[in-house]
Amino acid sequence: MPIKTAYEILNNSIIYFQGEPVGTTAACDPSPVAANYHECFIRDFVPSALVFLLEGRSEIVKNFLLSVMKLRAQQPVMEGHQPSLGLLPASFKVVEEKGSEKLVADFGERAIGRVIPVDSAMWWMFILRAYVIATKDTELIESPELQEFIQQILDLYLRERFESSPTLLVPDGSFMIDRRMGVYGYPLEIQALYYGMLQTGKELLQRTHGDNALISRLNILVDALRAYVRVHYWVDRERLNEIHRYHAEEFGLHVVNVLNVYPESIPDWMDGWLDSRSGYLVGNQGPGRVDFRFFTQGNLLAMLFGLATEEESQGIMNLFDTHWDDLMGEMPVKLVFPAVTGKEWMFSTGSDPKNVAWSYHNGGNWPVLLWPFVGAALRTGRFDLAERALELTTERIKMDNWPEYYDGRRGGLVGRRANFYQTWSATALIVAHSIMESPESRALFEKFTFYND
Ligand code: GLC
Repeated sequence: MPIKTAYEILNNSIIYFQGEPVGTTAACDPSPVAANYHECFIRDFVPSALVFLLEGRSEIVKNFLLSVMKLRAQQPVMEGHQPSLGLLPASFKVVEEKGSEKLVADFGERAIGRVIPVDSAMWWMFILRAYVIATKDTELIESPELQEFIQQILDLYLRERFESSPTLLVPDGSFMIDRRMGVYGYPLEIQALYYGMLQTGKELLQRTHGDNALISRLNILVDALRAYVRVHYWVDRERLNEIHRYHAEEFGLHVVNVLNVYPESIPDWMDGWLDSRSGYLVGNQGPGRVDFRFFTQGNLLAMLFGLATEEESQGIMNLFDTHWDDLMGEMPVKLVFPAVTGKEWMFSTGSDPKNVAWSYHNGGNWPVLLWPFVGAALRTGRFDLAERALELTTERIKMDNWPEYYDGRRGGLVGRRANFYQTWSATALIVAHSIMESPESRALFEKFTFYND
């Protein structure tokens, strides 16, 4: 029984602090490949939290939310900079010191490449929202401590710097893809999470404060971000045709090719890739730069959060259907398609051997993506695709001992350096099965109107 084993992995992964459960380790592998897989990563805890909330085990989620919130004080201060209390760590662990326990956070200062976890606070807000929906514990968000923290998060993420668009500018490796992969700038996954976070912040603050200047600002930004992503990230056959025939180097306020995209930048693999039923949101957008790669997590979150329109969401599901082998393969779901190879791999990853073509972040298949995939499939009425994905995964992943990721064009090989008993591979399967059985539980991560209901 794979689901039973998945629960065992989840239960074995629980981290206790002073006798209370506060999180889950990234993997339960007795000899993990990576040194920090015994830590609790904020993003990895997301499907764990969903399982706990679906099961009515909300105490651990509350402990997690409060513990992580306090960890923000541990942020190391870089010389010449001020700490920002809206930033959350990538991960944390329990350390024993002189007979007492301590929670120790990592804000990237111990991580490979010292990458900054921009997504952590956004996932934290996602979990907070799911917690409130599941438990109706509105007292928690009304507490002054929580209110202050939400405000601090928004202060950081709304801070003005060098903005020329409503999207959020981030460095490389600032989210699930936490290695150099040419995903700096305005990656889609960050924009989808940002959209979700702004909506959540709005919901939570409006509840306690009513309308004020911040809420109006959030309203304007949410609308602008949604419109911008829909115009600049969406590509279908019609849009591709438009880009193909673009005039570049236009001056002035009222031009068509606003971001000065050169038609020559359309990659060869796009030729014939989109049929008249399919489309998707591109991976990144910036001046003169479209990253045409298909990034699964960003597209799925955009569907779940309503950043993509209903029609676009249907187009994205059609793309999965048409390119099933490429995007789902033997073990769903491909993280990014296609992989970069040769010189492109050298330049964009810094010749990272873990990220060679069709491995790990560079075109590997990640079972954790199953929960948002099934969520998005149900949302768009594509029950058939959800079922097909689960059929491929359920038995096989248990036989393979719950790897973190798979390699190969079709995702048929266990990832070369994958950990086994990866917690989010197990919890994603549980969440996917649970929402298939009771689709209404998708309310935990959909529809931004919970307090109006
Ligand atoms: C890898 C992944 C990252 C994940 C971590 C723990 O670094 O890229 O997204 O949070 O492993 O599983």
